[in-house]
Amino acid sequence: MPVRASSGIGRRCPVHSSSQRSPGSPDYEFRPPDDWSDFAGVVGLAYGGYDHSPDHRAVVAELLEPKRSLLARTADGPCATLAGYSLEMTLPGAGPSPVFGLGYVAVSPAHRRRGLMRELVRRTLTDLHTARAEPVAVLNSTEPGIYGRLGFGTASQAVSLAVPVEARELAEIPADGGPPLTLDVTSPAEAEAAVAAVCRGCLGERPGMLRREGAWLRRSLADPPADRGGAGRLLCMLATDGTGPRGYALYRLTAGWTRSYPRYTVSVHDLGATDPAGYALLWRALLDIDLGGTVTANARPVDDPVLALLTDPRSAAPTVRDQLYARAVDVDRALAGRGYAVETELVLEVSDPLCPWNEGRWRLITGPAEADCVRTRAAADLALTARELGSLLLGGGSVTQLALAGRVTELRPGAVRAAAAAFRHDPAPFCPVVF
Ligand SMILES: CC(C)(COP(=O)(O)OP(=O)(O)OC[C@H]1O[C@@H](n2cnc3c(N)ncnc32)[C@H](O)[C@@H]1OP(=O)(O)O)[C@@H](O)C(=O)NCCC(=O)NCCS
Repeated sequence: MPVRASSGIGRRCPVHSSSQRSPGSPDYEFRPPDDWSDFAGVVGLAYGGYDHSPDHRAVVAELLEPKRSLLARTADGPCATLAGYSLEMTLPGAGPSPVFGLGYVAVSPAHRRRGLMRELVRRTLTDLHTARAEPVAVLNSTEPGIYGRLGFGTASQAVSLAVPVEARELAEIPADGGPPLTLDVTSPAEAEAAVAAVCRGCLGERPGMLRREGAWLRRSLADPPADRGGAGRLLCMLATDGTGPRGYALYRLTAGWTRSYPRYTVSVHDLGATDPAGYALLWRALLDIDLGGTVTANARPVDDPVLALLTDPRSAAPTVRDQLYARAVDVDRALAGRGYAVETELVLEVSDPLCPWNEGRWRLITGPAEADCVRTRAAADLALTARELGSLLLGGGSVTQLALAGRVTELRPGAVRAAAAAFRHDPAPFCPVVF
């Protein structure tokens, strides 16, 4: 159910959750934007004065859901923004499920460190809770140190690769007996229907995958000339059999020469396939592109099959980083809304000052098909904060690792082992879209 970002709309109030509020700070009014033009000035300034090109602006404006978004303003105009998105994302064992996406959390430089970001996020989460809307909120973070204090934990990781031309050999895989595959290279716009079909086919299993239709798909395919940074235009490689598309790769080339030899960089932006044959064919073709030198991919799943296909994965220098951040809006609904690898019963003691309705003890009964989570007075098995819980929601975080780091406390012997087995998901979560 869509929820308006409505808490205290129109009311002017000072923001002072941070201790740095100075005397004379202005009062702020919080309300939804009318459209992207209310966001554009703050976003442009907050991200370093790079104003969006008209093409890029059209894409982000189409995605904005004003009634689910929030801005803060003073008498001088908007000074902080938060875009809210109604997303459908694969959750462990539950398939595509509604989640709330936060994007463009931006505060004008003159209004920073007064608690505006915290207040925008707090109001948004409170509204989602009050309306019993999406039980899980997700975001991408420009810097890893920002959102932990607001109860968001690292829920997925991404790996970047750079395969040098001399390490492009892939293992042979047995033929799958299916119809032969052919490859075609076309423009993203022409490939829209085929990419949409493959994205639908890739949606079910891996947590973090996003339903991409309409404006979200157009965002993935958008290629504003002003944003190419000297590279060629975005191209789409399609693997097709007689019955339809089986995979796509969105990529671009950047010209480069070494001692008179062409060593173009092939940058893979997005790649999906519905079966191993289509997947391997696309990577093989990307690694074999004429003029190509290094093939790079900035964000792939940590268990991407290409790491098992390359005969020399070490040369690709895989580098892992944090990717999606997630948080429970409501602990009970978030934990009951996903599946678990094993059956177990755990009492979790959760600390969540930003969303006090989540604080306390919760009995979680897990199973592969369904789960239940209710308040309890029973003794706790594990103690953790909303941040650690957030990192477990998509099945990516390791309870064992968090316990060894002292961020999850085991209160009953064996509880860490039981929780670790239940929460972890294979394949690892990954989100192919930045929002
Ligand atoms: C990041 C940003 C939104 C923070 O806004 P803000 O209004 O200054 O943040 P707040 O005053 O609400 O800060 C809340 C807390 O987060 C901390 N914080 C804020 N920005 C931080 C950062 N970049 N890194 C680490 N901590 C940060 C504050 O110190 C404060 O800590 P406290 O709880 O100990 O008091 C703002 O600096 C900005 O617009 N940056 C550029 C755009 C950007 O990176 N946006 C994030 C998109 S995901």
